[in-house]
Amino acid sequence: MARITVLGGTGYAGGNIVREAASRGHEVTSISRNAPQEKVSGVTYVTGDVLDPGVVDQAVAGADVVVEALSPRGALEGTIGSVVQKLSAAVQAAGARLGVVGGAGSLLVAPGGPAVAAADDFPDAFKGEAAEMAAVLEDLRASDEALDWFYVSPAGDFGPWAAGEHTGTFRLGGDVLLVDETGSSTISGADFAQAFVDEIEQPAHRRQRFTVAY
Ligand SMILES: NC(=O)c1ccc[n+]([C@@H]2O[C@H](COP(=O)([O-])OP(=O)(O)OC[C@H]3O[C@@H](n4cnc5c(N)ncnc54)[C@H](OP(=O)(O)O)[C@@H]3O)[C@@H](O)[C@H]2O)c1
Repeated sequence: MARITVLGGTGYAGGNIVREAASRGHEVTSISRNAPQEKVSGVTYVTGDVLDPGVVDQAVAGADVVVEALSPRGALEGTIGSVVQKLSAAVQAAGARLGVVGGAGSLLVAPGGPAVAAADDFPDAFKGEAAEMAAVLEDLRASDEALDWFYVSPAGDFGPWAAGEHTGTFRLGGDVLLVDETGSSTISGADFAQAFVDEIEQPAHRRQRFTVAY
């Protein structure tokens, strides 16, 4: 049993991770600005803003693993890099592990590149978010070796509009976008969360990014 704190545990990715981790008997705390409409049984919900001094320290205190499932939108647009840097310092000092929910935009379309977000058909609306989360990955890769982090990029089509089913069957990849035989890159929220919590339980990607897709 691990003590897991999920920043953004009421969001799409974070909510799925909270549900999966709690179902496996982990001690889970979620932090977000608003309380959820529906609570997962056994999960402790804390309200707080990561931009407020002290909330990052509160997230790390007593945790074995801290999950960053915030999104660089709204008030967090342009700030996620500095939030993750503060979080990284606190996690390293505490000897905990950091798991980051990233984006598909920084994955490569093929070995050697280019990045998914560099493609002509990548939606303008997601370019800023993709760039911010790519920068977070670069910062983690450049971080002190003592920082124990992992970063998971979902498939290209991941979100509440494609919530899907919990199938328990998916593939893991490295830096290259995984696509199925039809050319689609997709993963349900529950299967993404299964892969994320698998990594928490059995670390296989220390200081690495990996991806999850069908
Ligand atoms: N295919 C893709 O590449 C893809 C698709 C979707 C998501 N993603 C990535 O997945 C990550 C999570 O995205 P998501 O769609 O799951 O996000 P989301 O549903 O918008 O959830 C964001 C969470 O963060 C919380 N939050 C926001 N601002 C906060 C603050 N200042 N302090 C504390 N909590 C705050 C929100 O709750 P409150 O509003 O109540 O605070 C919510 O729990 C992002 O990095 C995103 O880029 C990637």
